Amino acid sequence: RIDVSSLIDTDHGLIDRAIFTDRRLYEQEQARVFASSWLFLGHVDQLLKAGDFFTTFMGEDPVIVTKDKSGRIRAFLNSCRHRGARVLRADYGSTRAFTCTYHGWSYDLEGKLISVPNEVGYSQELWNRDEWGLLEVAQLDTVLGLIFATWNPKAPPLDEQLGDMKWYLEAFLDRDSEGTTVVGGITKWVLKGNWKLAAEQFGTDWYHVNMSHASALMVLSPTGKGPKAEIANTAGRQYSDDRGNGTGFPVHPKSRFDAGPVHKHYDYAAMRERLGAARVEGPMTTGHATIFPNFSYLPVNGSIRVWHPKGPDEMEVWAWTVLDKSMPEEVRTAQRLYNLRTFGPSGIFEQDDGENWSEIQSISHGWRTNTVPLNYQMGIGTEAEDGVHPGSTSELYSDAAGRRFYKRWAELMNTPAWHEEAEQ
Ligand code: FES
Repeated sequence: RIDVSSLIDTDHGLIDRAIFTDRRLYEQEQARVFASSWLFLGHVDQLLKAGDFFTTFMGEDPVIVTKDKSGRIRAFLNSCRHRGARVLRADYGSTRAFTCTYHGWSYDLEGKLISVPNEVGYSQELWNRDEWGLLEVAQLDTVLGLIFATWNPKAPPLDEQLGDMKWYLEAFLDRDSEGTTVVGGITKWVLKGNWKLAAEQFGTDWYHVNMSHASALMVLSPTGKGPKAEIANTAGRQYSDDRGNGTGFPVHPKSRFDAGPVHKHYDYAAMRERLGAARVEGPMTTGHATIFPNFSYLPVNGSIRVWHPKGPDEMEVWAWTVLDKSMPEEVRTAQRLYNLRTFGPSGIFEQDDGENWSEIQSISHGWRTNTVPLNYQMGIGTEAEDGVHPGSTSELYSDAAGRRFYKRWAELMNTPAWHEEAEQ
């Protein structure tokens, strides 16, 4: 395994570009970062009844997520134990059993192998059907309607991984007692660019907004004066923690960029009562967030997304629109369209971000390019407790969450993962 200590210097805010390009590091990342961490799978409303399923990825591993007969959500490796074919090829659906289309091995909703064509052909002594069920994740849990799972039997509970981050997440997903739902399906698109470029930006980077999104902000500007007047001098905070999570948000009670009908629908007094003013005027606003390693969200847009790694140079973005169940139909439509217009695959903000990441990746394999470190020094030493927002926060314009994202990444990359310990 490669020691990444010389590539990540978070004390001085320096990151070596090889972490975005090196194939060997990418493979180590699969075995240590993705194999060890809690990973986002989907929203609970994607599984309403027993037998409902959807397929997704944990790192590059394909998984089936389903609801078994007892109503429990389970996740299995989507690879047949016979010759390794994908058991399910559909994105989502409903079934009574998972039957592999190659030779017909069939598994029940609990992952048990229940039917094998020509089973008499297997040797009586060697054959034990019970040993050939689908591989299941080690832990699965939900938080505020989001499903996470990990292959790591020793991973601390999901709540512990979130820590103070949950306080910020609640500002998005716990605005009223009815909870949230997802609408409009999952939008999926492929981008050139290492997945960390996107995860890091959503965790730490408000800095790009004024420049990268200047035109888009002009379009959405409530006063028509554009980004300089309303955004450039925005005050706000950025939260980060040593588990690699990060979120940044302006602190501005009035100047929001919600879709009009959503803005009108909200009962801000009730939300202040439920969540406290600091959350309504902070993390509920036009912010951004990443839960380590590759789940991100945007509260105002109602966008949740996962950055699936597809080799060092490519990612697949999967994005959902999340909204409050209590929203009437016309408000739901307004929120969904607002999200698509801004952060759908052709959204006016998404286009700016995707182009930046792809542009960075497209020039990142040159020798000379890879001999200079990248700068993550903004706000070094300014992280502190501010008495309002839980945990450690800094100014909104800061690389603090980026530094801690990479510090966590380096820790995992340099530590034998649970499966390596077992192998020793
Ligand atoms: Fe699935 Fe043979 S690979 S039944």
